[in-house]
Amino acid sequence: MKKILLPTVTLLFSLSVSSKTTPVYLDPSAPLEDRVEDALSRMTLEEKIGVIHAQSKFSSAGVPRLGIPELWTTDGPHGIRPEVLWDEWEQAGWTNDSCIAFPALTCLAATWDPEVSYLYGKSIGEEARYRKKDILLGPGVNILRTPLNGRNFEYMGEDPYLASVMVVPYVKGVQDNGVAACVKHYALNNNEVNRHMTNVIVDDRTLYEIYLPAFKAAVEGGHAWSIMGSYNLYNDEWNCHNSRLLNDVLKGEWDFDGVVVSDWGGTHITDQAITNGLDLEFGSWTNGLSAGTSNAYDNYFMAYPYLEKIKSGEVGTEELDNKVRRVLRLMFRTNMDSSRPYGSMASESHMKAAHKIGSDGIVLLKNDGNILPLSTENKPTIAVIGENAIKMMTVGGGSSSLKAKYEISPLEGIRNHFGDKANVVYARGYVGDPSGEYNGVVTGQDLSDNRSEMELIKEAREVATNADYVIIIGGLNKSAGQDCEDSDRADMKLPYNQDKLIEAVAEVNPKTIYINISGNPVEMPWVDQVPVILQGWYLGSEAGNALASVLSGEVNPSGKLPMTFPQTLDQVESHRHGSYLGKPRNDGTPFVDNEYAEGIYVGYRGMDKNNFTPLFPFGHGLSYTDFKYGDIKTDLLENGLIELRLNVTNSGKIAGAEVAQLYISDPECSVPRPVKELKGFKKVYLEPGETREIVFQVSPQDLSYFDVESHGWRLEPGMFEASVGSSSKDIRSKTRFAVD
Ligand code: BGC
Repeated sequence: MKKILLPTVTLLFSLSVSSKTTPVYLDPSAPLEDRVEDALSRMTLEEKIGVIHAQSKFSSAGVPRLGIPELWTTDGPHGIRPEVLWDEWEQAGWTNDSCIAFPALTCLAATWDPEVSYLYGKSIGEEARYRKKDILLGPGVNILRTPLNGRNFEYMGEDPYLASVMVVPYVKGVQDNGVAACVKHYALNNNEVNRHMTNVIVDDRTLYEIYLPAFKAAVEGGHAWSIMGSYNLYNDEWNCHNSRLLNDVLKGEWDFDGVVVSDWGGTHITDQAITNGLDLEFGSWTNGLSAGTSNAYDNYFMAYPYLEKIKSGEVGTEELDNKVRRVLRLMFRTNMDSSRPYGSMASESHMKAAHKIGSDGIVLLKNDGNILPLSTENKPTIAVIGENAIKMMTVGGGSSSLKAKYEISPLEGIRNHFGDKANVVYARGYVGDPSGEYNGVVTGQDLSDNRSEMELIKEAREVATNADYVIIIGGLNKSAGQDCEDSDRADMKLPYNQDKLIEAVAEVNPKTIYINISGNPVEMPWVDQVPVILQGWYLGSEAGNALASVLSGEVNPSGKLPMTFPQTLDQVESHRHGSYLGKPRNDGTPFVDNEYAEGIYVGYRGMDKNNFTPLFPFGHGLSYTDFKYGDIKTDLLENGLIELRLNVTNSGKIAGAEVAQLYISDPECSVPRPVKELKGFKKVYLEPGETREIVFQVSPQDLSYFDVESHGWRLEPGMFEASVGSSSKDIRSKTRFAVD
């Protein structure tokens, strides 16, 4: 027996010797940068080229010889995209990839709650991790410049400060799973029409004050591990290889140490891809959405063409090594981090998260006569009307389209909630888009209905006449030309004859509630005839349940608009200066020059400048209770920050949350400044009668403007005004303070 033991001991010894020779790049205890350098030093030229471009629609190669795994990406940003075929957009037909659809990012922004944003990031990151993805293609933080942009629903509204505060926890939540967030689309991608050919012309002040802050926050505050270049051009260079945006600003000024990923089909020129900051090329030979050719990967701009240039001596390898370092760094943070958690999919906690984000983000725009919450005394008849009450919204809209594990429609949610307490009846009201398919994922719903508009309205009126309450659920959908990638809306009106329907129904029932499902503002010419209006966004898997919680009062609404709802497009600055799409060049090229002539006057900044009264202002959102604001007390702190304190009291009868918003004005500045700008907000939950002190700290940065000449932020001494309110138009308390 003893003789048998001896070799075993020897074997253990030799194992422990070999573990000492573990290469540094495989040693989890070695410093990150040492691992990167070690891996880099072992790679051949071909292996380096291999890791900087795609090998399939959504993955890039690892280094098989060294055991460095492939990198897998997924859309983003509202749920995990279903698996697609290796080289096609078409879904692969797997049966294990149905996800929880979380509410759209506009809804997340409407919560004005950074903790909810972390919950979102953590939950979607867990799903990405469980699906073995290393990069989540999201969140999106392009600023809403026009209500027509088909992709606004994937972004966080019109205000750079709000988007900056909300993006950071999302990124952190995702990355806590060992999954990289990929913040998109950097930058100035503010419309879909002509997105590949639009060259944006914007002054530096507008760039730094409006369009860059949320990206900067994601990089500096959230330490995002990747960022996606946008399709459009700026300074006549495509943004996926744009020397100013990528080299100077992102990697220079912000010290970004992660990976610049091209948008799918956003790379165009090898020389620029080499020198102008792109690190990882995806989706070339596609138009980014529908068209593609097979197995073109070796022909990618950063594949053979790059290799050839190196081999012929035309270019060196310094840029290549830099790109590979970044990709390796991302790998050590994600798929080569053996300590990262395992993730989870469609868990109960994700369903609850989707429900919470949804119900916290629903915005009560109007509640005349306190019709909401719905009273179920005397078992009322509730007439639900509209296609959006039954239409699945998780399929469609472009790359954010999902294969959801389940989706509770508004009608189902209302029935679930009120089923035995009310008599719920339904009428179609209008026919929008009865189809439901995206890249092979089908809703399975047959919504075709051949009745005329007249017949549909007639039925809706009859149903409404006999009901105690009417809930019309309408708005936009995810079809091309509505809230959908690769197209913009033609105008800001409600489609499919809905205005007529709403007016006709409101005429016969004074208790009409309209729920607008959209990711964008819409015109509401009938606003005075409809007593109750809610903004219901796209709410994902838990849509109907989240809406029902608010309608019933189980959740007291606390969402606030992250964007202005203008009355018409004539109130929108980017439209007042001509076409928001810019002008085609008359030089025989397909390029369009789009000058952002409105400058910094985007959203409420433009409304305030013109003294316009919007339909619903930025920051607006009602509650079932009331809040009273006290006076602001100001202190200068030793660290140079200005502290503003005030009490907020729940003066109503039920518990609820209020978002107190701080706006700063600099009326004495030597350069034109917006009338006011959001520089702080706090969401506070209060029991009836409860008072809490809210504290804001204002930094010099919050008081500054971007000075183009010195290329820096400038604080001009003088008097400043601080306004705190319940919306950008409902200011409850003001104070002035001097800064020297
Ligand atoms: C979109 C990106 C998306 C990518 C991959 C592109 O068309 O612009 O947002 O992540 O496709 O699906």
